[in-house]
Amino acid sequence: MAKILVSLSVNGDPHELYLDTRRTLLDVLRDELGLLGTHRGCDAGDCGACTVHVDGLPMTSCLLLAADYHGAQITTVEGVLDDGKPNSLQQALVEKGGIQCGFCTPGFVMNGLALLSEKPRPTEAETRAWLSGNLCRCTGYVKIVDAVMTAARQSP
Ligand code: FES
Ligand code: FES
Repeated sequence: MAKILVSLSVNGDPHELYLDTRRTLLDVLRDELGLLGTHRGCDAGDCGACTVHVDGLPMTSCLLLAADYHGAQITTVEGVLDDGKPNSLQQALVEKGGIQCGFCTPGFVMNGLALLSEKPRPTEAETRAWLSGNLCRCTGYVKIVDAVMTAARQSP
């Protein structure tokens, strides 16, 4: 099997890894770097649980070959705390009941933060459309959307 040297910055930390070119970014984050906050749901690009930011854009890491992202800046859910505390979206998810089993939550946090970065005051329809690639089996989405809208209202 072919292995190549891949440099990745993950949550600001530099990593140099010899990787099988068939390994996904999700594999590398979880199995090589021990960042278990990025969840493996479908492993097929359908559920959004594995969403991370790649050079600032939300992407499903199960669909990315890590070797293609040599030199990229990756941010995972472990990297979005605010001074070591939950950020405003994470707090809103807790306060609004947008977390039940929590399996989908890291993906919603990463995609929700990307939305708020792109569009700080999204409408409810825009929020629902943006998050449509993230699946949740527990909440029915109303509380998650409410949490994102609440975080948007709280941002300066
Ligand atoms: S695990 Fe990647 S989209 Fe479901
Ligand atoms: S809170 Fe359980 S899948 Fe979303």
